Amino acid sequence: MGGFSEKQEASVKESWEVMKHNIPELSLRFFTLILEIAPAAKDMFSFLRDTDVIPQDNPRLKAHAVKVFKMTCESAIQLHEKGEVVVGDTTLKWLGSVHLQKGVIDPHFEVVKEALLRTVKEALGEKWNEEMNGAWGEAYDHLATAIKNKMRAES
Ligand code: HEM
Repeated sequence: MGGFSEKQEASVKESWEVMKHNIPELSLRFFTLILEIAPAAKDMFSFLRDTDVIPQDNPRLKAHAVKVFKMTCESAIQLHEKGEVVVGDTTLKWLGSVHLQKGVIDPHFEVVKEALLRTVKEALGEKWNEEMNGAWGEAYDHLATAIKNKMRAES
């Protein structure tokens, strides 16, 4: 258990720098993968419920994708700097209640993790490596745990 190294932090930050220039494509790919892995997740999202195709330019879809990626990236920075992920109390409360209300359960977090890691891999192409994968996965796990714990506390 060596903590979250500077190299791991840099790996997440640098890959996000690349990915953030193509949010529309990233968001679409992320949601396509989520629904590929778990088709039933579709009905939870207001912007997917009444449509057969994933909307290309939906602001809520982009907002969710960007939030997940950005917050995971911020978690990587905190893990290195503080050794833990601290989400502000108000934000965490809000995240907990939104997901509880939408019917999100623990296994969904694994689905989103898988989709996130695959999106990173595809987006980075030749620049992708195992360490990058591990760093994103670890940062996501810490963030997901914080949200899941809050959901449990609220329910
Ligand atoms: C909404 C973040 C994981 C399903 C939201 C919102 C945020 C957020 C910030 C509010 C968006 C807004 O109203 O602008 C995150 C983060 C996650 C995560 C950081 C993981 C680290 C998940 C998972 C699921 C999920 C695993 C289920 C597959 C939803 C749904 C909404 C939502 C259904 C409501 C979206 C809508 O219909 O507009 N999430 N989320 N989220 N999230 Fe997540």
